[in-house]
Amino acid sequence: MAHVWLIGMMGSGKSTVGALLARELRLPFVDVDQAVVEIYDRSIEDLFAEGEMVFRSKEHDTIAEIAQGPSSVIATGGGAVLDPRNVAAMRATGTTVLLTTATEELTTRLQHAAGRPLLTSPGDVAAIAKARSQIYRESADVILDTTTMTIDEVTNEVVRCVGM
Ligand code: S3P
Repeated sequence: MAHVWLIGMMGSGKSTVGALLARELRLPFVDVDQAVVEIYDRSIEDLFAEGEMVFRSKEHDTIAEIAQGPSSVIATGGGAVLDPRNVAAMRATGTTVLLTTATEELTTRLQHAAGRPLLTSPGDVAAIAKARSQIYRESADVILDTTTMTIDEVTNEVVRCVGM
């Protein structure tokens, strides 16, 4: 398997870049959140309502299954790196690319975001980004600061970095 795993905060562009990247690399595109919703026929909010662990467990099982599938570009949910088993699966099956974005920019992008149960008050984005900063970096083979880049620029840069 030679997957390209996109990791990073909510709002960092993983799903948008992932879809373009997949087209560019002629690989299937998989969005983990979407896969969870389809497999379990439950919304992300619904799963979180039962407790974050319920969502994380399904997220893990989904990542483990995708990891064993055909080479793909995969957009993970922002919290996927919190489970070391996910990080191990990603690193064993491909390249992990971290998309970073300045917190102010993320906050602006996520201001009106719906369907993200972890964002309930204005300071949440900054607090989560800070708490996860190290783990994101430790989980990444490639780190790309996308703050001032267009989606096309990010896509081209990832293509260059993964050397496919
Ligand atoms: C989460 C990010 C979300 C989704 C869930 C939890 C997180 O995915 O998996 O709401 O913990 O950062 P996106 O990063 O695609 O928004």
